[in-house]
Amino acid sequence: MKCIACMNKQGIIGIDNQLPWHIPSDLKHFKEYTMGSTVVMGRKTFESMGSNPLPGRTNVVLSTCFEFDDACVLGNMEELVKYPGAIVIGGEQIYRQALDLDLVLEICLTLVDREVRLKEGQYVAYFPVECLKDFEEVKRTENSEDGYDIIWYKKKESND
Ligand SMILES: NC(=O)c1ccc[n+]([C@@H]2O[C@H](COP(=O)([O-])OP(=O)(O)OC[C@H]3O[C@@H](n4cnc5c(N)ncnc54)[C@H](OP(=O)(O)O)[C@@H]3O)[C@@H](O)[C@H]2O)c1
Repeated sequence: MKCIACMNKQGIIGIDNQLPWHIPSDLKHFKEYTMGSTVVMGRKTFESMGSNPLPGRTNVVLSTCFEFDDACVLGNMEELVKYPGAIVIGGEQIYRQALDLDLVLEICLTLVDREVRLKEGQYVAYFPVECLKDFEEVKRTENSEDGYDIIWYKKKESND
């Protein structure tokens, strides 16, 4: 499986169940990267999109207790083996579990140069940056106009 995410240098990917920024060129990149594929997301991420499936993609939502008419809902991560070519699109809980379970072989990460000043009581979602130690950077493109790099990582060969 692959994974796509957009984080800032603090590792932040979301605040109060929303994206902390609106970067049209990166959203275009996300659309191009995922179009035609199966996308896997957590229930909170799906709800953050108004519970509307992403068009042109097979939408798989992980939830232990919700059902959605317009998306395939899975009750556990193990069922993801049915979607080997799928792309994990977040949020924090799903990135973390997919990476911990070694399901992800490629990461496409947008690194945004935007600092977020957190306020008390905000619900902050982070990318599990510690997992990147198991990956190596294979490509990087700079978008200095919009203030971000897109970094492609591949899983390092295991010595086990
Ligand atoms: N910047 C980015 O690239 C990016 C991308 C995506 C999302 N985000 C942000 O990330 C935030 C949301 O992340 P989050 O971590 O709070 O939530 P999330 O990962 O989107 O969803 C969490 C939910 O997924 C379900 N879930 C988790 N593990 C499961 C499992 N093993 N089996 C079945 N269901 C499982 C649970 O739903 P139930 O409670 O229904 O069981 C859980 O409450 C938002 O702010 C969003 O905007 C950012």
